[in-house]
Amino acid sequence: MPENPYDKPTIQSRLSVRGSKWHRDAPDIIPLWLADQDYPLCPELKDEMRQVIEEEYTVYGSDNDAKAAISEKLKRVNKLDISPGQVKITTGVTINFWLAIQNACRPGDEVILTDPMYGPFNSAVEATSTRAVRWKLDLGERYEFDLEKLKECITPRSKLIFVCNPHNPGGRVMSKETLKGIAEVAVDNKLYILVDELHEDIRYEGRKHYSLAALDEEAAALTQTCWGFSKTWGIPGFQPGYMGCTNKMLFDRLTKVGAAVVKGSNNLTRAVAPLICSGKIDYWVEDMNKYLAEVRDLVAKRLNEMGDFTIPKLEATYLMFPRFNYGLTSDEIHKVLTKDAKVALNPGPRFGPAGEGHMRILTATSKGIMNEALDRIEKVIPKLEKMSN
Ligand SMILES: Cc1ncc(COP(=O)(O)O)c(C=O)c1O
Repeated sequence: MPENPYDKPTIQSRLSVRGSKWHRDAPDIIPLWLADQDYPLCPELKDEMRQVIEEEYTVYGSDNDAKAAISEKLKRVNKLDISPGQVKITTGVTINFWLAIQNACRPGDEVILTDPMYGPFNSAVEATSTRAVRWKLDLGERYEFDLEKLKECITPRSKLIFVCNPHNPGGRVMSKETLKGIAEVAVDNKLYILVDELHEDIRYEGRKHYSLAALDEEAAALTQTCWGFSKTWGIPGFQPGYMGCTNKMLFDRLTKVGAAVVKGSNNLTRAVAPLICSGKIDYWVEDMNKYLAEVRDLVAKRLNEMGDFTIPKLEATYLMFPRFNYGLTSDEIHKVLTKDAKVALNPGPRFGPAGEGHMRILTATSKGIMNEALDRIEKVIPKLEKMSN
């Protein structure tokens, strides 16, 4: 049995437990499509959750202790002064996208999204009779956030900008300058801002994460920021999200808008929040990030050796978004990968039109599983080459 917990997952061990990622497709497919890690749970976190059941804490609970702990964490880690009364625990993170639109927009108004961007941002716009205006990232050797291109997106109907930092699927963590630039554009044009910082803990080479709302007071007054415990701690099945604003009026309005649909949390989330927010188990994430950086390097090295890919270095998140340079659509590539290689990745256009030709690869698995997936991808490279002629 390997010593390192991150090395532990095998195809067999993952197939033997429940979960969408490993069971959506046939068992001979290696699933690297969903942003759901394969690693064991942090033992202290597991004890905390076990206690919920032992104690039979299954009655209606209160969010208060969790909100107090989150407020402390926001001060300590994000440099944000947000009282517990301006924190809302949400079931998942994505409900915040809908809330932000309901608050900022009327039908026909425009929401600025990066292209590409995590799919549910796009779905939230589609579902609300608003219009997506896409701030195209430069998907070259490095995904760049070009502020001049952002300014070109502004029209009299612009009301809201969605910011995802660290960025899914670009794998970038935004610099202070980029964030300040976005803040300035928002303030100048009176745009509301929604920042999704769900991937804030997953970073490599000591890269720093800054919360936009902590960098500019005027922009903070227009900003709703959301976070969650799902990606860092491998607990998306509990849907542990939370949201906060420094501006009480904005927070109160969002609370009112969501009154009928945002229901607060569950007792497992309530139980783990104080422990996670205390920073006492950060060692687990530090170790995971070291391992994830090794998997990232393994994937980049092997793909570059076996074929023609453009692979910007992943700065944050466990999601790579390489371009397959075979002149094929992502759907064509996806078909070959699932049918012939038996590896399921996410086609790039799920994240916006600029994702065409890209595939998103989850890296949060063991090197054993990843090597097997890469062996299988290597075998279909000649087929991709043939199709590109
Ligand atoms: C950027 C981003 N936001 C939100 C979500 C949704 O998270 P949750 O399932 O915890 O609501 C994800 C999931 O992958 C994500 O990557």
